[in-house]
Amino acid sequence: MNIIPERVFSGVQPTGNLHLGNYLGAIKRFVELQDSHDCIYCVVDLHAITNVLQDPVELAANIREVTAAFIASGIDPEKHIVFNQSQVKEHAELAWLFSCVARMGWMNRMTQFKEKAGKDREKASVGLFTYPALMAADILAYRATHVPVGEDQKQHLELTRDIAQKFNHDYSDRIESLGLGVPMQVGDETVNGYFPLTEPLIGGPAARVMSLRDGSKKMSKSDPSDLSRIVMTDDADTIGKKIRKAKSDADALPSEVEGLEGRPEADNLVGIFAALMETNKAGVLKDFGGAEFSKFKPALAELAAERVGPIASEMRRLQSDPSEIDSILKKGSDRARDIAAQTLADAKEIIGFIGARG
Ligand code: TRP
Repeated sequence: MNIIPERVFSGVQPTGNLHLGNYLGAIKRFVELQDSHDCIYCVVDLHAITNVLQDPVELAANIREVTAAFIASGIDPEKHIVFNQSQVKEHAELAWLFSCVARMGWMNRMTQFKEKAGKDREKASVGLFTYPALMAADILAYRATHVPVGEDQKQHLELTRDIAQKFNHDYSDRIESLGLGVPMQVGDETVNGYFPLTEPLIGGPAARVMSLRDGSKKMSKSDPSDLSRIVMTDDADTIGKKIRKAKSDADALPSEVEGLEGRPEADNLVGIFAALMETNKAGVLKDFGGAEFSKFKPALAELAAERVGPIASEMRRLQSDPSEIDSILKKGSDRARDIAAQTLADAKEIIGFIGARG
């Protein structure tokens, strides 16, 4: 537990084809957290160039797409902060400081790097390897205490905590003498540190949304089949068609959650229904236990169209006028920079650089 004020930060990469998995697994949580926390939501465009050469026109369109999805889903850019990472230079500079705190051994353990780099690691970009130092900088530039993310980002959050803890420890005397320490709980002890030990917020009934064509694979922007995913800009007819064609099995739905075991497609469709309905799988099966897919699928299609349809049309409206989105990002970036610049100045002062505070 940190005694530092609670603040939520999260980031989404501008990869294009934002889908139901991004919405239910991430963005919907972001919207809900606005009621209880100060939130900062970032389009992490600097991360998007770590492993693919981006087409400049597409990259810009994808940055706007994520921003439009945030706003259309109900994130309020006035009350909270919405911006794109590359407009706030402080992220890159803090990432340098953190790359000197993090150890090679820590980075070498990152499973996402191993997966993305594949067999030929010599050809991976250096940025792909140091990616988690930039992610730690994103979070700690705002001294964020909570980060809603998917299961796959847990290890990066642990690394973020390791960086914060090592920085706090290595510079503890200096943090103390500058009066910059904030009390925080580490194990059984309360210690003074500068950076909080950030906690991930993981979970929800659809933390993992699977492909509509194969219940054992995650729903993905890069699946060659359009039918495998519902994208956030699909209209009601397209959503209905994709759900009707979704893979299922021959049995009726079970009445208990245990009955979904070994039925990945059924499990996925019930999970999607639960998340859209804001209930859990047991709640869905209470209503639909014993129902055939010929009855369940139309109900799911209707629900999905009702929940996603309005977001899709608002996204299309926002995307038709880039200047509105760009001005939201500009304003958000200015506000984000005020906070990040303060943190960076403190960190540089703690390390001992001259002129850190201007
Ligand atoms: N690595 C995250 C992903 O691929 C994106 C990300 C970058 C992020 N910086 C972040 C998420 C900071 C949360 C907080 O999904």
